[in-house]
Amino acid sequence: TIETRIQNLLAQMSTREKIGQLALRDWGTFQAADMKAIKQAVREGRVGGFLNVNFSSVDKNAFEELQRIAVEESPLGIPLLFGQDVIHGYETIFPIPLGQAASWNPDLIRQGARVAAQEASADGIRWTFAPMIDISRDPRWGRIAETLGEDPYLTSTLGVAMVEGFQTDNLADPTSLAACGKHFAGYGAAEGGRDYNSAYIPERLLRDIYLPPFKAGIDAGMQSIMSTYSTLNDVPGTGSPFLFKQILRDEWGFDGFVVSDWNAVMEMIPHGFARDAKHAATLAANAGIDMEMHTDTYDQYLPQLMDEGKFSEAQLDTAVANILRVKLRLDLWNHPYPRAKSEAEREQIIRNDQFLNAAKEAAKETFVLLKNDRQLLPLKKDQTVAVIGPLAEAAHDQLGTWIYNGDKKHSRTLLPALREMVGDQGKIIFAEGLTYSRDTSTDGFKAALKAAKKADVILYVGGEEAILSGEGHSRGDIRLPGAQAELIAALSKTDKPLAMVLLAGRPLQLDKTLQQADAVMMAWHPGTMAGPALAEVLYGETSPSGRLPLSWPVGAGQIPIYYNHLATGRPATDDNYTRIDKIGREVFQHQPGNSSNQLDYGHKPQFPFGYGLTYSQFEYRDLVLSNTNLDGNGQLTISATIANTGKATATETAQLYVRDLVGSVSRPVRELKGFERVTLAPGESRRVNFTLNADQLAFHNAQMQAVVEPGEYRVWIAPDAASGLEGVFTLH
Ligand code: IFM
Repeated sequence: TIETRIQNLLAQMSTREKIGQLALRDWGTFQAADMKAIKQAVREGRVGGFLNVNFSSVDKNAFEELQRIAVEESPLGIPLLFGQDVIHGYETIFPIPLGQAASWNPDLIRQGARVAAQEASADGIRWTFAPMIDISRDPRWGRIAETLGEDPYLTSTLGVAMVEGFQTDNLADPTSLAACGKHFAGYGAAEGGRDYNSAYIPERLLRDIYLPPFKAGIDAGMQSIMSTYSTLNDVPGTGSPFLFKQILRDEWGFDGFVVSDWNAVMEMIPHGFARDAKHAATLAANAGIDMEMHTDTYDQYLPQLMDEGKFSEAQLDTAVANILRVKLRLDLWNHPYPRAKSEAEREQIIRNDQFLNAAKEAAKETFVLLKNDRQLLPLKKDQTVAVIGPLAEAAHDQLGTWIYNGDKKHSRTLLPALREMVGDQGKIIFAEGLTYSRDTSTDGFKAALKAAKKADVILYVGGEEAILSGEGHSRGDIRLPGAQAELIAALSKTDKPLAMVLLAGRPLQLDKTLQQADAVMMAWHPGTMAGPALAEVLYGETSPSGRLPLSWPVGAGQIPIYYNHLATGRPATDDNYTRIDKIGREVFQHQPGNSSNQLDYGHKPQFPFGYGLTYSQFEYRDLVLSNTNLDGNGQLTISATIANTGKATATETAQLYVRDLVGSVSRPVRELKGFERVTLAPGESRRVNFTLNADQLAFHNAQMQAVVEPGEYRVWIAPDAASGLEGVFTLH
């Protein structure tokens, strides 16, 4: 068995070789990236794996050679594990994760991860630093682009699908990648959305909101976990025994391995938590970080720490066993080398038609139609369309953040796709107006306005380029950058219908552009196949079906705004809040006056969580609860009819929410507990049935016990978090 093999290997390993397995290196770990030194370290068994090397400028071909040395020349021939940030595709780039989350479609996400795994494993990568399952309630944070949104249930469901796609149900399959849930824990709660910043999360909130996606991933067999850079309640995640020992191992029984984030062990020094590198190694190793990414404090100090009794041989064996277990499950001994044995074989795999088509189909399901007045969309093929805006031809930017192997030269962009769609070159006119999203020059406005005047419809394509989101790329101001708002205002004055397509890694503060545009579609960063995917949806070959995986704020000053908040003692409602107009005069105040509200932004997000339009209309009718009384082990079926009352075939995502009306601690006003996508032709209707088990109502009480409390509950089947058909049941 695997456990016997682990014990056999451990029995033969020197302490040095054991410590070697804990080392995850990149070229930067070695002085001047000296290949000779790197090879020698592998030969001596002092390296367990490498990260992000095959696109390195140092030596792209060293990959196989290093593995050969590990397998043939290192003392025990233990294969290296090659890891990479394969985040939303390898060479075939899929939509950014936040976009994928907007599909609310686990099958599609599973398939995307499968494609990525097949491509990456062709090049010898068997481990990905994904899924990122950090919950975030802050669109200023650049890495929100990489998350699956604000909700623990949605993130858990989609994160598990990603794990399944990467890993398959058989890790020994040479096309599988071991997944890595990151970043444990609380990274998405960085203060002010400033990357790497402190996270303050009360333990109850941590357990109810931030941890469930990790638990779900582990229950689905996720093989590794990455520590967060940030502090959680004043303790750097990378030095937290509470996270890695108590929760991960003792409570959850995780048997894979934990890797530090890149340089995170050493960063405990500037955090003011470790005195020096040796202290950092002690803290990380004792916290339960098995593998050290990039830095080499374990290599340097663990022997000494063991001599001093600060880290034991038994602890070392446990860490090594955790890593070997995953290597053995991946069957690296039988498949140590890249799957593609030749360039020709590689070409059969990488970016093949089937993969590109999967990326296109995925992108189509991620677009969220936010507004569509007078049914401006879909466009009609006989209309002349003026395509304007800085991101209409954005071969690089349409790919989004984290695209190590993605290359803009393979991007299918929008303009040619639109032209192909209408089959008439003259119908699509192009004038970008601004050369990039942050362009503040109005020089191009004249040509843009000229194009607009010649057209029947303006298609504005703007937003944020890829570099405005992602790691270390947060913003304080989330308005449309550059002179985009000015350009849109000018275009709206032409009185031509204006459809706006937004490409961005976060929701944006739309201000007046939301009124100026007749239609708005959020396209995130759609990836390699952005052009054809957008063209097909814009021209109505498929209706948009994406739903917001987060609450879309009116403005940055509203952040954090999320649907599963608590009620206040003075909850704001539509007829109970105060607003002032721009000059500060109170325009109206409803009784009884003060409520939880902002005078300028109001109390609601711009668009609620779960929201998204289609080219059709849906009605929700006849909510039925199988029973209105439930006992602690019981089950309830909640059903409703969804009817397509419009004129197009479209997919509606019905969402199940609950509210625990009175709890031993205040409970969220709504919590998502299920969702189902239903595709219906015009006039067609179907019943959706959700099953709710009493244990799905569990939360952590003040004593940190997971409890299901008796009492009255509300339940909704809804098109978004702010509406729906409501029912009531009692739990006994
Ligand atoms: O996987 C990433 C992580 O999310 C952020 N820091 C670097 C790691 C490796 O590239």
